Amino acid sequence: MTQRYAVLLLPSVNRVYRVAAQHIANTELSALSYAMPDAAISDVQSVLIGSVPYMTFSANPLSTKSIALLSNLSSLYALFKINDSSSDVQFTPITLKRLDRFPNDLLSILKFAGKTNEQFTKLLINLTLLASNYLTEAYSDKDEARNIRLLDPLCGRGTSLNQALMYGFDVAGVEIDRRDFDTYGLFINRWLKDNRLKHQSKTIELKRDNTTQSHRHQITLGEDKESYKAGAVQQIEFVLGDTLHSAEHFKKKSVELIVADLPYGIKHGSQSTKGLNKSPLSLLEQAVPVWATLLKSGGAMGLAWNTYLAKKTELIPLLENAGLTIYEPTLGNDFRHRVDQAIMRDIVIAVRT
Ligand SMILES: C[S@@+](CC[C@H](N)C(=O)[O-])C[C@H]1O[C@@H](n2cnc3c(N)ncnc32)[C@H](O)[C@@H]1O
Repeated sequence: MTQRYAVLLLPSVNRVYRVAAQHIANTELSALSYAMPDAAISDVQSVLIGSVPYMTFSANPLSTKSIALLSNLSSLYALFKINDSSSDVQFTPITLKRLDRFPNDLLSILKFAGKTNEQFTKLLINLTLLASNYLTEAYSDKDEARNIRLLDPLCGRGTSLNQALMYGFDVAGVEIDRRDFDTYGLFINRWLKDNRLKHQSKTIELKRDNTTQSHRHQITLGEDKESYKAGAVQQIEFVLGDTLHSAEHFKKKSVELIVADLPYGIKHGSQSTKGLNKSPLSLLEQAVPVWATLLKSGGAMGLAWNTYLAKKTELIPLLENAGLTIYEPTLGNDFRHRVDQAIMRDIVIAVRT
């Protein structure tokens, strides 16, 4: 017998997505429902209950696995079972099973102009993971680090790296801006110290013709001394440099997930061999084939960008020409939302088969 459930959305979704908040939450749930066929999710609705907006849906009684998947929805604040008798509607809270390994301030402390909103970053990572063949690995019950590496080849000050660390993944990043690179290095080392997490950090000089061209930060961390000793560790690696040279820093077929929030042409431009550009297209034309070589088979690439600067129909051929297949739930404009007057953001995801 099907059961009705209600999701209370995070209050901040309205600020992040404005009028599109409910629609984006519904679409993420619909995309997730493909990964949980046993639950048979149907009849997703946005409703007001006691003047508060909820997303409700019908499903078979949720298994532990389905609850785990739902717990990580990027807009979810709380999940309830609805007991609907003719006279009364009662909510029973469901205990969430989030992937999160660390205190939430890992995601929220660092604030700066040009930061990709952390809730949106989580949506982008969730969808990219869903599109990939590595969802089961990500949700495996093992205590040790999960066997997934996420690369953000335009990592800025590490918002996506931090979200992926939260999920227990290894992370890799490339950033061309020295200030962003240094700020993230300082932040993550400070945060690991403040939280007394066992870690080892080193900075490597990358030389060409005996002169330092660039730097690479490498950090190994464990939740505690015991797990560190047992090798249950997560790796953080990020490089100061041009993303077009990513394949010099990371091995081919070495990452399961790539996510990038492309420069919006406002605070950041896209740096390619054709110079600094407002539109991300010339950067993507050169970078996507490089990034695609780093993806493992079954891996996925999720991109977010400002649709005022490039159309989805212009991005899709760049991904397809690199041998990737577009992930269907992101073919339409279902995740499109206004960020401000100059930015209308959307998501496209492609898979390496
Ligand atoms: C929208 S921002 C990403 C922000 C990031 N998600 C965060 O929250 O910190 C895009 C980033 O791409 C970087 N960028 C632009 N062209 C680049 C290139 N050719 N190689 C590496 N990074 C580049 C910019 O410096 C900027 O930090």
